[in-house]
Amino acid sequence: MNNEQLLMLRPDVAGLEKAAAILAEGGLVSFPTETVYGLGADACNDTAVAEIYKAKGRPSFNPLIVHLADVEAVTDFCKMNDTAHQLAAAFWPGALTLVLHLTEGAGVSKLVTAGLDTLAVRVPDHPVAHGLLTAFGGPVAAPSANPSGRVSPTTAAHVAAGLGGKIDAVVDAGECHVGVESSIVSCVGEPALLRAGGIPVEALEACLGQPLAVPQDPDVPAAPGQLASHYAPQGRVRLNAASAEEGEVLLGFGPVEAALNLSVAGDLTEAAARLFACLHALDGMGAKRIAVSPIPDHGLGRAINDRLKRAAAPR
Ligand code: TXA
Ligand code: MG
Repeated sequence: MNNEQLLMLRPDVAGLEKAAAILAEGGLVSFPTETVYGLGADACNDTAVAEIYKAKGRPSFNPLIVHLADVEAVTDFCKMNDTAHQLAAAFWPGALTLVLHLTEGAGVSKLVTAGLDTLAVRVPDHPVAHGLLTAFGGPVAAPSANPSGRVSPTTAAHVAAGLGGKIDAVVDAGECHVGVESSIVSCVGEPALLRAGGIPVEALEACLGQPLAVPQDPDVPAAPGQLASHYAPQGRVRLNAASAEEGEVLLGFGPVEAALNLSVAGDLTEAAARLFACLHALDGMGAKRIAVSPIPDHGLGRAINDRLKRAAAPR
């Protein structure tokens, strides 16, 4: 079924029912969330989850996020402690993933957790994602819908370009408005920030009334997906560039002369929303060398810089 032409589904009742039926049959459906497009499969179906790894070319040690329609559904699969309840009340539905203790016998495929006894869960804040999760009625495992190591998709066209021919369908609901992946907080043990993302770390810490630990050991990524090289466009990337050198294309931020600009106004929210679309556009232009303006490292700037550092890492 995966070799047929990619089916584009509308984000209406009929489209979501079709998408849910494909998931129920063990197929792969890409769907929009407020952060990026996910590549969904039934989280309880080993074969379907294995197909995610195959379609993405993803290393099998890298566990997946499970998406659920609401907090009540989360408690069917994980144990929520006080930290989890506080963060869930403040930020769900939304761009936050919580790592929690997995409830034994909950039925989630071991390929989803890559054998860990914890589960990453998220309740997305997108009407189409919510509609699909409700129509399907179960947990949907979904990494970002890009080939492993490449730029995450913020439109259905990005998904089709990266994974067309390898997946069954994509629900097209236009652009994702947050544009970077969810923030990941581990609630197992000391609360820790595993990935900077769509919810600024300052907001998470204000909610908990304490700083989040940031696991430091670069050789042991706390979230196994946090590999050094990731989000890579085709061209080489140079960061903190005041201007473009000969042969470089400048990806600007703020009022600079640039081929593409994340936000002329210097707005970090706009820059996050445009980041992956700009990296895809640089690929489209055939840019071989990319210079990127400095981005302030606070608020969503932290998530943007995290992605750019990985895009610039040696491959
Ligand atoms: O915004 C998002 O989070 C998007 C949309 C589709 O929801 N999803 C996404 O998934 O970014 P993915 O697979 O690209 O990233 C999942 C990250 C990886 O870094 C993975 O290692 C980490 O979550 N992760 C998953 N389960 C984990 C666990 N039990 N403990 C620690 N990290 C975990
Ligand atoms: Mg990803």
